[in-house]
Amino acid sequence: MLELKNIKKYYKMGNENVVKALDDVSLTVGDGEFVAIIGPSGSGKSTLMNIIGCLDIATEGDYLVDGVSISAFKENQLAHLRNKKMGFIFQGFNLLSKLDAFENVELPLIYQGMRKSQRKQAVLQALKSVGMADRVHHKPTELSGGQQQRVAIARALATRPSVVLADEPTGNLDSKTGEEVMQILKNLNDQGTTVILITHDADVASHAKRIVKIHDGKVTEDRANDCDQVTREEV
Ligand SMILES: Nc1ncnc2c1ncn2[C@@H]1O[C@H](COP(=O)(O)OP(=O)(O)OP(=O)(O)O)[C@@H](O)[C@H]1O
Ligand SMILES: [Mg+2]
Repeated sequence: MLELKNIKKYYKMGNENVVKALDDVSLTVGDGEFVAIIGPSGSGKSTLMNIIGCLDIATEGDYLVDGVSISAFKENQLAHLRNKKMGFIFQGFNLLSKLDAFENVELPLIYQGMRKSQRKQAVLQALKSVGMADRVHHKPTELSGGQQQRVAIARALATRPSVVLADEPTGNLDSKTGEEVMQILKNLNDQGTTVILITHDADVASHAKRIVKIHDGKVTEDRANDCDQVTREEV
């Protein structure tokens, strides 16, 4: 369970100028939810994702992860929590260009301290789960955009996180490949993983079960997304 309570994130720019990237955001995400956070450019989506993912700390307000307030956590405690609980997928894939698919997926497992024999099994399973078992030794430049994103997803999954945070995961992909990536996230959610998807695209957001809208650093709407149900009733 993730609980944001009156979260504010301010950036000081020079003497007087303050950017209110997040302005009093309260949001609770339960285990196993699939939430899309949607809003225009500059509305605070990535800032929110960084705070939810424990990559950054709020200026004000409290954030509880499974009931524990992390506001006073030191960087090493945050890193430990991230490693244990969170998986990240970014628009730009963020793969290391000198490493092949296997090595990219292996990296967070090395940080976790997993033994080599166990790592091999976990990496191959993660790559297989995203349909990349036949590209294990390809480097990022030897893969298509969609394939790179699937490797990045495998890297996020390999540690078996309970929460996956995806910031515009389909932003650099054509619509068909984007659909495939969304399908992988849906399957992951069906298996019980909490998925938090950040997007400015309403079509992409429509895959989620809950839609939270953000504007100028404030939550303006928070609703269940019952599109699936409507379609079923129509049929
Ligand atoms: N490190 C920073 N220093 C100062 N201002 C920042 C910083 N990071 C973000 N901002 C500002 O905070 C606001 C929110 O930025 P954020 O990156 O969260 O937006 P976003 O919703 O993710 O936008 P996009 O859809 O373009 O990725 C923006 O106005 C931005 O200029
Ligand atoms: Mg962003």
